[in-house]
Amino acid sequence: MTGYTTHAQLLEAALLRCNVRREEKVVLLSSRIIDPGELGPYEEAVRRVSDHVVSVRYYPMEVTDAHHMNAMLLAAMKQADFVLHYRGGTFPTPFAQLTAHSHGIPEVAASGVRWLDICLNEANQFRLFPSKEIVDETMAAAVRMAAAKELRLTSADGTDLVLRKDGRKGHRQLGLSDEQGIWDNFGFAMVACAPLEDSAHGTVVVQPGDALLQMGATVRDKITLHVEGGRIIKIEGGESASAVSQWLERWDDPESFGVSHIGWGLHPNAVWTGSPRFTPVDGESYRGSILLAFGSNTSDMPAKHSGIGGTRHCSSHLDIPLLNHSFALDGTLVVDEGKIV
Ligand SMILES: [Fe+2]
Repeated sequence: MTGYTTHAQLLEAALLRCNVRREEKVVLLSSRIIDPGELGPYEEAVRRVSDHVVSVRYYPMEVTDAHHMNAMLLAAMKQADFVLHYRGGTFPTPFAQLTAHSHGIPEVAASGVRWLDICLNEANQFRLFPSKEIVDETMAAAVRMAAAKELRLTSADGTDLVLRKDGRKGHRQLGLSDEQGIWDNFGFAMVACAPLEDSAHGTVVVQPGDALLQMGATVRDKITLHVEGGRIIKIEGGESASAVSQWLERWDDPESFGVSHIGWGLHPNAVWTGSPRFTPVDGESYRGSILLAFGSNTSDMPAKHSGIGGTRHCSSHLDIPLLNHSFALDGTLVVDEGKIV
């Protein structure tokens, strides 16, 4: 229970927790594809917290094919103190959309802007609103992730993947853009890092019911990913394995097969695939799940626990949430067979 009655009240509370102040310049950013009627509560909330609000609606063609900001949009966003970017409440979205992996958001954050994405509908915003407990636990998890050097992912079904992250950041994603030069995404509760690009070695067994988020698909039959030198070198299985192979190959880039990020989810209210309420936010935040991703991992922000800061450049990014896995930092379990330790 959030204690807020209306959608605008919930959004106002989310903005106040991001320390948005009356004198700050706030941009409400959205795509022209989104029905303007949906924006009412967002406009009400930003106007309640700031005297300096502009609403910017971009045409999808203003975002390039790789979902990057064009120069005009980039320059405009850098003028803000705070950007609230409403991405629509459905997934997959039918249009090009800015994400943390787009060129643009890290550049905006680098100029000190605080940026908050929202990609949930109203009901899911109430369900996944971050409690103080969620915020505190996720922050603590990010500190632990930041300190780790060796990561090991295992499962009773045959996963055994070892990775190194020496010196890489511990990214927290919990819906709170409350310090300079930060990007966050509302409703999430997860931590992640970009392992050293050539370090991952071993096998990942993906089970039916796990998700392939950017493909908009749920895994139907077991997929075995063989990883060497940081990249998938062989994909075994049936229908779902073929679909993953085809999706990765279509980018015509060996980096699409490279490990991007890994971490774990902490949100007690997130649901798994099969629930009618499932969203990608749930997949990435489900308490005790592991999120393993392949592709681009360069996104980075100035804030200490925001961004992953890898060196793998490519156009694709595939997030694969996994259930029933164990995850250890330098030999200490943080997730044990799908349960937070
Ligand atoms: Fe990802």
